[in-house]
Amino acid sequence: MTYFERRGDALYAEDLPLAQIAAQLGTPTYVYSRAALTQNFLAYANACRAHGRGDGGALVCYSVKSNSNLAVLNLLGKLGSGFDIVSGGELLRVLAAGGDPKKIIFSGVGKSEEEMRLALSHDILCFNVESIPELHRLNAIAGSVGRQARVSLRVNPDVDAKTHPYISTGLKENKFGIAFEDALATYRVGHELPNIDVTGIDCHIGSQLLDDAPLLEALEKVIELADQLHANGIHLHHLDIGGGIGITYDNEKPVAVADYLARLFTRIDRWRAEKYGGAPISIMFEPGRSIVGNAGVLLTRVEYLKHGASKNFAVVDAAMNDLMRPAMYDAWHGVQSVHRRDASPLAYDVVGPVCESGDWLARDRQLALEPGDLLAIMSAGAYGMTMASNYNTRGRAAEVLVDGDRFSVIRRREQAQDLFALESIVE
Ligand code: LLP
Repeated sequence: MTYFERRGDALYAEDLPLAQIAAQLGTPTYVYSRAALTQNFLAYANACRAHGRGDGGALVCYSVKSNSNLAVLNLLGKLGSGFDIVSGGELLRVLAAGGDPKKIIFSGVGKSEEEMRLALSHDILCFNVESIPELHRLNAIAGSVGRQARVSLRVNPDVDAKTHPYISTGLKENKFGIAFEDALATYRVGHELPNIDVTGIDCHIGSQLLDDAPLLEALEKVIELADQLHANGIHLHHLDIGGGIGITYDNEKPVAVADYLARLFTRIDRWRAEKYGGAPISIMFEPGRSIVGNAGVLLTRVEYLKHGASKNFAVVDAAMNDLMRPAMYDAWHGVQSVHRRDASPLAYDVVGPVCESGDWLARDRQLALEPGDLLAIMSAGAYGMTMASNYNTRGRAAEVLVDGDRFSVIRRREQAQDLFALESIVE
C-alpha cells in the first residue's frame, strides 16, 4: 500500500492533506510517511522471521546513504534495523540517532585512516573491505588501537545487474569489490593478518534491480566461494547480499521483497543442509531505496507558467539541487497536482530556478496548472535529500515526517546564512 493517496481532489500523506504542510512550512519540502517507512522495513524483517531467521540469523542493515535524516534512522533503529554506512559522517549520524554500533557495517572503496579509527573505537560489527591495501591499512590501525577488526571482503561476482550503468556495480569493469578470481588469495591475506578477523563475504551488484535473477546468480557465486574458503580452512560467519531491490517510479513491476527473500533463503537452506549438515550462517542485507524511496515525496509550488514557442514550462520552487536524479540519471519521477483542477491539461516540462538547462524535474507531463499550485514529485524518499546540494546558494529543503494526521519537522529549512557561515573574508 502507498501512503500518498488522493481523497477527493486533494493529495494526502497518510491522513494529512499535503497542502497543510505547505501552508505551515512553505516549499520545497520533503515529506516522509512514518507508516510507509515502517511497512517497507518490516517487509524485510518479517520475511527473515518467516524463514526462521529471527534473533541473529539475519540482519537488515539499512543503507544510510539513501536517506540519512536522524528521525528516519531513529525510527528504523527502533524497529531493529542495523545500518550500512559509507563514511565517518554516516557513522556519527547513526550514533546520534541512537543506532547500535554492534549492528553497523562499514562499506565503501576508500575508507580513510581516521574513519577506520573512529569505527574501531565504536567496535562496529564489520568492515566491508574492497582491496588488499585496505586490508593492510585496517590491520595496522586495528593493531595500533589494540583491537581486532571484523571483516567481510566485498567480491565482485561479474554479474550484470541490468540496471542504469551509473548504479551498476557488479561488473568486472566497475571500481567496486575484489575480482572473483582474486578472492581466494585475498582471503588468505586477510586470514594471515593478526588484527583482522575474517567473518564474511559481501556482494552488492547494483541498485534499482527489478528482477531478482541477477541477485540469485550472484548468490551462486558467493556460495561457490564460501565452499572454496571452507575447503581452505576459512570458515565464515555471515553472507552479506547487499541492497538493490528496485521500486515503482512509473510502471515498473519490481519483485516483491518477500518473494525474493523466500527464493534466497530456500537456496541458502538447501546449501547448508547438503554441505554443512544444516549448520546456520547469518545473512545480511543492505537495502536503501526499497525502504525509503516510495515513503517520500518532494512538495513544491509553481512559481510561473511559461508558454514557450515549442514547450510549456512550469517553473517550480524545487530544483536540481533539491532532487538531482532527473538531471544526473535522466530519472523519471511521477508528478501529481496536490489539488486537481477541473480544466484541460497541457504538456509541461517541470523545471526549477537554477541556471542550467539540466535543471528539470520532469518532462512532457499532462497537467492542469495555475501559478501558485502545489505539486508532489513522487518516489523522492531515496537519494533525494541525501544528494541535495547548495548550488546557486539555495538552502536545502525542509524535511517532515507524517504520522497519521500530524507532522513533525525533522530538518528545518536551511537559511542563506547557514550556507556561508563556515566561510571567511581575507583582508
Ligand atoms: N550497499 C551498497 C554497497 C551500495 O553501494 C548501495 C547503493 C546500497 C547497499 C543500497 O542500494 P539500494 O537498496 O538503495 O538499491 N544515487 C543513485 C543510487 C546509488 C546507489 C549507490 N549504492 C540513485 O539515485 O538512483
